[in-house]
Amino acid sequence: MKKILWSALVALVSLSGCSDCNTQDVKSAPSFDEVLTSRRSIRNYDATKTISEAEVRDLMLATQDAPSWANQQPTRYYVAISPEKVAAVQDMVGGNKDRIKNAPVLIVSTFERGKSGFFQGNQTNEVGDGWGAYDNGLSNCYLILKARAMGFDTLIMGIRDADQLRELFAIPDNETIMAVIALGYRAEEPTRPGRKVLDEIVKFF
Ligand SMILES: Cc1cc2nc3c(=O)[nH]c(=O)nc-3n(C[C@H](O)[C@H](O)[C@H](O)COP(=O)(O)O)c2cc1C
Repeated sequence: MKKILWSALVALVSLSGCSDCNTQDVKSAPSFDEVLTSRRSIRNYDATKTISEAEVRDLMLATQDAPSWANQQPTRYYVAISPEKVAAVQDMVGGNKDRIKNAPVLIVSTFERGKSGFFQGNQTNEVGDGWGAYDNGLSNCYLILKARAMGFDTLIMGIRDADQLRELFAIPDNETIMAVIALGYRAEEPTRPGRKVLDEIVKFF
């Protein structure tokens, strides 16, 4: 009897620890390095795949872990996810339009001026609102890396019409409009654009 019970226990443990049985469809989370190296600017999206508002909310939660000047959190996001708003934003990104035509979500990123880089209303140093742009870029970086970790792809677009976007989303005047970020699924594997040699960008002293 003891032997039977023991065999049953061993079978149970080995089943629950089985790493490759019945898991063909279950993808394990990518490592941090895999997220970094597989993220690319994607300019061709899979038209058959959609992204839900709940998924975008998960993505946005991750951006809230980004650091910012004195925790000012100056970044704001305006998410086009309805077909009408997505179509409208597609017309506001100039020559990028064709590149993002099948991306199901387009995200406008802004930052509130006079927050990061300021103390009691006074500019702290020569960078001024540049610190808001800095914080915005950090937040966007969390966004694009978390997106990759979730299996999504992105394209940051600096070519966009700020005036039209401001009107479409009623973006307040005290916010500077930065990038529009396309979110979707890659339709083809991208190539990695070349990078400068390390010693060109890093100096050790
Ligand atoms: C601030 C910023 C603005 C960009 N604007 C555009 C854009 O308007 N259109 C575009 O196709 N790519 C744009 N890109 C993507 C860059 O071209 C891309 O990041 C670069 O070539 C490196 O490629 P990778 O992202 O695949 O590593 C932008 C990237 C950044 C960070």
